[in-house]
Amino acid sequence: MHKAPQTNPFTFGDLALDEAFTDREEELQELASDMANGQNVLVYAPRRYGKSSLILRAAQEALQRKALVAYCDLMKTPTKERFAAALAKTIYADIASPMGQAFERAAELFRGLRILPTMEVDPADGSLRFSFQAGRRRSDIDETIERLLELFGELAVERRRRVVAIFDEFQEIIALDPKFPNLMRAVFQAQPEVSHVYLGSKRHVLERIFNDRNEPFWRSAKQLEIGMIPALRFAPFLKERFAESGKSISADALDHLLNLSGGHPYGTQELAYFVWELVEPGGKATLDTVDTALSRVLRSEHNHFAQLWDDAPRTQRQLMLALAEEPTAAIYSAAYHESHELPSNPTLQTALRSLIDKDVVSRDAEGCYRVIEPFLGPWLLRSQMGYGMQGLVERQPTGSLVDNQQSS
Ligand SMILES: Nc1ncnc2c1ncn2[C@@H]1O[C@H](COP(=O)(O)OP(=O)(O)OP(=O)(O)O)[C@@H](O)[C@H]1O
Ligand SMILES: [Mg+2]
Repeated sequence: MHKAPQTNPFTFGDLALDEAFTDREEELQELASDMANGQNVLVYAPRRYGKSSLILRAAQEALQRKALVAYCDLMKTPTKERFAAALAKTIYADIASPMGQAFERAAELFRGLRILPTMEVDPADGSLRFSFQAGRRRSDIDETIERLLELFGELAVERRRRVVAIFDEFQEIIALDPKFPNLMRAVFQAQPEVSHVYLGSKRHVLERIFNDRNEPFWRSAKQLEIGMIPALRFAPFLKERFAESGKSISADALDHLLNLSGGHPYGTQELAYFVWELVEPGGKATLDTVDTALSRVLRSEHNHFAQLWDDAPRTQRQLMLALAEEPTAAIYSAAYHESHELPSNPTLQTALRSLIDKDVVSRDAEGCYRVIEPFLGPWLLRSQMGYGMQGLVERQPTGSLVDNQQSS
C-alpha cells in the first residue's frame, strides 16, 4: 500500500496538530464548554505536557462554532512594546471585522491608542505587522496596553460574537510588570462576553496570581491541570502510527516504550521517533529496538542533562538521584531519608522546591514525587550512579554516553 518512502510519523517540539494529537478528550470537552460559556480558565501543566497543543485544538473547535479567538504567547513578548504589538496583531487579524482595506481598517481600529503603532506589510506572508515605540511618558505604553485589552470586550459586543482571549505562558506577565495583573484584571472583569484562557507552567508563580486572596486574579478563573497521557490511550495511537507508516511494534516493546516515557507527551513522541528511525521499512520494533532508541535519546539529550546536573547544588543532586531511583509520596519520612542519605529539613525542602520550579520534579495526583523531565531518570541512573569501570567512563564530563549498540 505504501509506495512512497514514509516519513517519521512522530514529532516532538512543535505543536501536536491534527493526527499528531491524541487523547485529551475530557479536557477538550471541558474547554469547549468553558469557551462557549465565557468562563475564564487557567490551564496548568509543567513544560512540554501539551498545553499549547491542547488549547490550539480547543480553539479550532471554538472557531468552528463561530467564536473569535485571540492568542498571545507571553514567552515571545519580553518587553511591553512587544506585548502591545502582539495584542494589536491578534486583535486586528483574529477579532476585528475582516471588512475593508487593511491599513484604513487598522488605523480606524487603533486610533484611540495613546501610542499609535507603526504598521507595515510583512513581506513573508503579506500580513500586517505592528510595532510600538516607547512613549514620552513611562505610563504611555501601559495605557496603550490597557486600551488594547479593552478592545476584546468592545469588539465582542460590536460583532455580537463570543471572544476567546488566550494568554500562553501567562506567568511571564509578572516579569513584564508586577502591576500588570491589576491592570488586566480591572479590564477583564468588565468583559463578560470574553472567555479569558491563561496557560502556564510555573506553579508557584501562578499560585501567587490566582490563589492568593490579596491578588487581583484571586478566584477569577476555573483551574484545569493537565497530566500525562495514560498508557491505555497512548498505546493505540502509537501502534496505529507505526502501522500507517508501514512498520509495526511488538506488544512488549510498546509496553516498554510507555514505561520508559511514563506517558509524558513530549517524551513519548521523542522516544517513539527514535524507535521508528531504527526499524526497516516493513519491519517490527522489538524490546532491543526500544533500548537502542533510549540510548540514542540519552545521547541527544546529554548536553541538556549535563547542564542541569552541573548547575544543581549538591542537595538537589542527591534528591534527583533518590527520586530517579525511587519515586515517593513520603519524601520526608525517616526511612526514605535514611535509605537515600538525604539532608535534613529545611535543606531538603529548599532543594525540592527548586527542582519543582525547574520542572525537573513534580508531584502527581496521588501525591507521589518523581523526576518528570523525560529520560533524566535513566540518564542519572546510567551516568551518575554507574559504579565500576562503566560508571567511570560514563562519568567523563566531555564524553557522550557510551553506547555499545551504536551503529554507523
Ligand atoms: N495530545 C497530544 N498527543 C500527542 N502528543 C502530544 C500531545 N500534546 C503534546 N504532545 C507532544 O508534546 C510536545 C509538546 O507539546 P506542546 O508544545 O503543546 O506542550 P507545552 O506544554 O505547550 O510545552 P511548552 O511548555 O514547551 O510550551 C509536542 O511536540 C508533542 O510531541
Ligand atoms: Mg506551549
